[in-house]
Amino acid sequence: MIPAARDAIRPQPEQPLVHPLMDRAFIGALVRDFYSRVRADSRLGPIFASEIDGDWEPHLEKMTDFWCSVILKNGAYSGRPVPAHLKLKQVREEDFDIWLGIFKQTATELCEPAVAAVFVERAERIAQSLKLAMFYRLSAPGTSPSES
Ligand code: HEM
Repeated sequence: MIPAARDAIRPQPEQPLVHPLMDRAFIGALVRDFYSRVRADSRLGPIFASEIDGDWEPHLEKMTDFWCSVILKNGAYSGRPVPAHLKLKQVREEDFDIWLGIFKQTATELCEPAVAAVFVERAERIAQSLKLAMFYRLSAPGTSPSES
C-alpha cells in the first residue's frame, strides 16, 4: 500500500491540547472544583466518602496527574483505572451519567467552549471503556462467567 493511503486508514493517536492557559495548575484547579461538586452530590458523595477516608490530597494529586496525561499527554499518570473501579461494588452503570453530568458542568464553567469540548469528549470515551470493563465483562471461551 502506498504510504499516504496507509496513513489515511490508520487511527491517529490523540494529540496534546495546546492552549496558552493549559498547564498543570489549570488542570489541578479543574480537578479540585470537580471533586468538590462530586463530594456534595447525594449519590456520588457517599461512594467516594466510603473509599477515601479523610485525606483527599493523594486522590486529588493522582487525578491531576491522570488529567495531565489525558490532556497534555505528558505521561504524568502511570496507574491502572480499570482494577481501581472493578472493586467498587456499590457503583451502578447510571452513576456514570451523574459523574459525566458534573464533569461537563465543571468543564463548561471553567473552560472556553472548544477546550471544554476536548475534556468532555475524552472523559466520555474513558467512561465508556470503564463501563464496558465493569458491566459488560466477557468471560473467557469455555469458562462460565463465575470462573472469569
Ligand atoms: C460513577 C463513576 C465513578 C465513580 C463512582 C468513581 C470512583 C472512584 C473511586 C472511589 C476511586 C478510588 C479513589 C482512591 O482510592 O484514590 C477512583 C479512582 C480513579 N478514577 Fe474514578 N470513578 C468514576 C468514574 C471515573 C471516570 C469516568 C474516570 C475517567 C474519566 C475516572 C478516573 C479515575 C482514575 C484515573 C482513578 C485512579 C485509579 C488509580 O490509579 O488508583 N473515574 N474512582
